[in-house]
Amino acid sequence: MNKFFLNLGNQPLANNYLNSLKKKHIKYTLRLFFNTNNKIVSISKRIPSEKMFTNDYPYRSSMSKTMRHSFYELSKEIKKRFNPDKLLEIGSNDGALIKNFKMNKVIGVEPCKNLANITSKKGFLTYNKYWNYKLAKKIKDKHGNIDLIYSANTLTHISNLDDVFRSISLLLKDKGVLIIEDPSLLECIKKNSYDQFYNEHIYLFSAISVKNIISKYDLEIFDIKNLLTHGGSLRYYIKKKINKSFKISIKVKKQIDKEKKYEIDKFKTYKNFSKKVKKSKENLLKILNNIKKNNKKIIGYGATAKAVTVINYCDIDKNLISNFVDTTPEKINNYMPGKNIKILRYNKNILKNYDYAFLGAWNFKNEIINKEKKYFKKGLKFLTHIPKPQVLKYKKK
Ligand code: TMP
Repeated sequence: MNKFFLNLGNQPLANNYLNSLKKKHIKYTLRLFFNTNNKIVSISKRIPSEKMFTNDYPYRSSMSKTMRHSFYELSKEIKKRFNPDKLLEIGSNDGALIKNFKMNKVIGVEPCKNLANITSKKGFLTYNKYWNYKLAKKIKDKHGNIDLIYSANTLTHISNLDDVFRSISLLLKDKGVLIIEDPSLLECIKKNSYDQFYNEHIYLFSAISVKNIISKYDLEIFDIKNLLTHGGSLRYYIKKKINKSFKISIKVKKQIDKEKKYEIDKFKTYKNFSKKVKKSKENLLKILNNIKKNNKKIIGYGATAKAVTVINYCDIDKNLISNFVDTTPEKINNYMPGKNIKILRYNKNILKNYDYAFLGAWNFKNEIINKEKKYFKKGLKFLTHIPKPQVLKYKKK
């Protein structure tokens, strides 16, 4: 049974950065539910994929050093540990992972044309299509079964999880490996990062729920890794149950035990989370209003989809945060969805004109603070809402 626990209000499509104030956003309710059977957390309103994953999709995996490094390290591990003849990536984005492999060894699947074009043009075989059973069958007919299927921050965006795993099961070799990584529900609850939810993020996975979902398709987790990316993610290493060539690591049980200890499988945890989120909104607004009263100027650092959830849920407009700044070409000079705050092009002097920087990309806090150390030292203050609304002060090491 799906039980409601939090209403994040009316939200525009998170990655729909419009280029004119005259254009209007359609808003959709963003309500969160916990499934008491399979323990999955999901949003209620399902927007057709075609509306969200457009031909000018603005999110690029390669935009941060942290992500480039994470994909590079993973590619090294995959080569050493699994040495696949063929790797297929579902949601290959701008090629941040596949570019680390030989061209004839990888296949990308990417529904957003602007992103698929980036990897195709470089010579990587890329299917500009949505992941589904029909595509899995087509790829199987053409290339045979695949040794390693990888997907980061993509499967949680697809409404029909049964189709997702049925298709993977069809295409994966019996001795093959599936690696998926997505933000961790446990980390989200611990950090009170309600902004992990937006219309694209239909689900937030935990080891407990992934185990429940994939079991139907005779798949099982054999290893697990905690990652720092996206505010705390889990990387799941999955195999077919019939494949006995990998031992099940003790880390799988440890993660599940940790989640159970935190009562991630109990509805009361989400009722509690909901209370904390409401408090977080109140406190963030208090801080922002205080700064405004003192006539100080705030810029949002990182025009992220997460920040779209925050500004729309907390009702923050340009009177409180004057601008956002971002390095992504598709976002620059456009407006933050729903609140029409202009996104400026990043340059290394941009922070000079502001007193506070609100970390829209709080998940890259270290990378950003390191990059902007000069301003931080000179008195610029960073502001974040994770794990609770607060102003960060410069600390000498
Ligand atoms: P994400 O949190 O959804 O991964 O998005 C990160 C966004 O932040 C992306 O639009 C790029 C932007 N960004 C910057 O503009 N400058 C930076 O230094 C970093 C780390 C990210």
